[in-house]
Amino acid sequence: MSENTVLKIQDLRTYFFSRSKQVFIRSVDGVDLQVNRGETLGIVGESGSGKSVTALSVTGLVTAEPGVITGTIEFTSNGVTKNLLQGLEDFVTFETVDGRIMTLEKDNRGWQKNVDRLVHRIRGQEISMIFQNPRVSMNPFMTIGKQITESIMLNTAIKNAAEATDKARYWLEQVKIDSPNLRLENFPYGLSGGMCQRAMIAMALSSEPSLLIADEPTTGLDSTIQSKIVDLLVELKEQVGVTTMLISHDINIISRLADNVAVMYGGSVMESGPVERILAKDDEYKHPYTAALLESIPDEEHIKLKGHLKAIEGDVLDTVNIPDGCRFYSRCNRVHAKIEDKCRHTEPDLREISEGRLIRCWLYLN
Ligand SMILES: Nc1ncnc2c1ncn2[C@@H]1O[C@H](COP(=O)(O)OP(=O)(O)OP(=O)(O)O)[C@@H](O)[C@H]1O
Ligand code: SF4
Ligand SMILES: [Mg+2]
Repeated sequence: MSENTVLKIQDLRTYFFSRSKQVFIRSVDGVDLQVNRGETLGIVGESGSGKSVTALSVTGLVTAEPGVITGTIEFTSNGVTKNLLQGLEDFVTFETVDGRIMTLEKDNRGWQKNVDRLVHRIRGQEISMIFQNPRVSMNPFMTIGKQITESIMLNTAIKNAAEATDKARYWLEQVKIDSPNLRLENFPYGLSGGMCQRAMIAMALSSEPSLLIADEPTTGLDSTIQSKIVDLLVELKEQVGVTTMLISHDINIISRLADNVAVMYGGSVMESGPVERILAKDDEYKHPYTAALLESIPDEEHIKLKGHLKAIEGDVLDTVNIPDGCRFYSRCNRVHAKIEDKCRHTEPDLREISEGRLIRCWLYLN
C-alpha cells in the first residue's frame, strides 16, 4: 500500500439473506477502491448499486446477516495501517462454484464482536460520517453545542469542557452557520434542514478525522440549500483538506468535489480514475455504463420538456441472480461480435489501463 493511501478496499463482499426467497442479495460483490491522502474519492452509481453498503462495511455498521463476509479494508491513520477485517476469516466459511459464493456459514456474533474491537475507536474518531438526513443522526434531546463538545472531548486531545466549547464554536464558524453562539444552545429540531446539515458537518470535522465519509450529504435538502452546502463543501475542501469518500448519485456534485471517481454497478466497481477523465464524455476509454450515466444527465431542454431525469434503459441488476458474464451485459449497447462471447460468459477484471485509471470491460481488455 502506498504511503499516500488512507483507505484501500480489496475484494469486499457484503451480502444479505432473503428469508422469503432463501437467496443471497449480493449488495457488495468484490469491491476494490482506494482513497489517497487529501483527496476526495467520489462514488457514483444508480440506486441500489451498493454505495452505502460499501461505506457501512468500512465502518463496521452492517448488522443485517450475513453482512460483510470477505475482503480487506486497509486503513491508515497517524502512520499506522490496520486491516479493519483482520483475522475475521476465522468466523466465516464459504463454498464457491465458478468463483461465485454459493453457500456460507458465519458466526455473526463472533464476527461483530471482533469488528467492534477493530473499529470501535476508529469510528467517529479517525473516520467520521455525514449522512443524508442529519436530524436522524443527531440526538434530538441534546443541544448542538453539547453534542459537538462531547464528540470533541471523546475524540480529540481536548478534555476540558470550556476548551471543547470554544472548539465547537470554531467549527460552527467554519461551516458558516449563522449566529454560531446561538446555535450552540439550539436543539436539532430548532434548526432548518440546511443548518442541521452544517452542524452535522461541523461535528464530523471536529474530531479531525483521517477520513470523512459523506453519503449523499445534500440529498433531501431543497435545491437552493443543496447548492449552498456544496459550495461549503468545496470551501472546506480547500481550507481543511480532509480525505473524503463522497457518495452521490449527482454527477454535478461529484464533478465539483471529487479528484477521483469510482463508478459502481450491481455491487461492483466498473471503472475508476481521475474525475476529469471519468466524467469526460469523449475520453478515449469509457465504460459503457459510465457513458450511459453521463447520457442520463438531463440537459436544460429535456428538463423543460419532460421535467424529469432521463433513465438508463433496462432494469437495474438483480443482485440475487448475477449473470455469469459482465454485469452490464443485458443493458450494454457496445457489445460487438468479437467480444460478445466473453461479455456474455466471463466477467472482466477491473484492470489498470493507464496510471490510476482502472476499467472493467472487454472493449479495453484482451
Ligand atoms: N439491511 C439490508 N437487508 C437487505 N438488503 C439490503 C440491506 N441494506 C441494503 N440492501 C440492499 O443492498 C443493495 C445496495 O444498497 P445500497 O443502500 O448500498 O445502495 P446505494 O447504491 O447506496 O443506493 P441509493 O443511491 O439508493 O442510496 C440494495 O439492493 C439494497 O436493497
Ligand atoms: S464487458 Fe461487454 S457487456 Fe460489459 S460493459 Fe463492456 S462491452 Fe458492455
Ligand atoms: Mg445509498
